[in-house]
Amino acid sequence: MRTADRDLLVRHVDGGVGDVCRSILAELPAWFGIPEANDDYAAHADAHAGVVAEIDGEPVGITTVLRHGPSSAEIYLMAVRPAVHRRGVGTAMLEVVEAELADDGVDFLQVKTLSPAHPDPGYALTRKFYLAAGFVVLEEFPHLWGDANPALQLVKTVGRRPRS
Ligand SMILES: CC(C)(COP(=O)(O)OP(=O)(O)OC[C@H]1O[C@@H](n2cnc3c(N)ncnc32)[C@H](O)[C@@H]1OP(=O)(O)O)[C@@H](O)C(=O)NCCC(=O)NCCS
Repeated sequence: MRTADRDLLVRHVDGGVGDVCRSILAELPAWFGIPEANDDYAAHADAHAGVVAEIDGEPVGITTVLRHGPSSAEIYLMAVRPAVHRRGVGTAMLEVVEAELADDGVDFLQVKTLSPAHPDPGYALTRKFYLAAGFVVLEEFPHLWGDANPALQLVKTVGRRPRS
């Protein structure tokens, strides 16, 4: 995919990108400030499928996916370097992930993020991204990540429509 002034490439990865993950998360301390959680994200990026977005050959974004079964999957991690926020990188990664999952028979894609019950301004922007991408709120989980970090589950259909 080509952006206005640069080449953006989104490539599938079958794990092996823990270092890319660490390097991008290090630029996003307001979202990813818990070292143990970042270790988990990097380990997941080393072991699970996902996509990496590159501009001029440099990795600028990463998305990893967790499969819950034949019909459902979860965005485990999505992160874009702040220097290129709001330039379509997240959208481009999501499009590739959704197309791959749909080809593999997945109907439902979910993501969990910080709930609006928490005042964090960064995650308010995160929720704007997911809502703009067509996710809808499914459920709040006030205690899933501990009382201080209420979780919001969002979901969207990918691929074929579920039967009505
Ligand atoms: C959330 C994130 C992945 C989005 O990636 P991105 O490449 O910046 O997003 P895009 O440029 O594809 O944005 C697509 C649309 O989402 C909405 N959006 C994204 N960022 C927004 C912001 N900061 N403010 C308002 N709307 C926003 C807009 O509707 C935007 O379309 P527009 O620019 O044409 O108006 C990225 O900002 C990021 O890494 N944030 C920090 C980490 C994070 O929140 N990860 C997810 C944790 S659950």
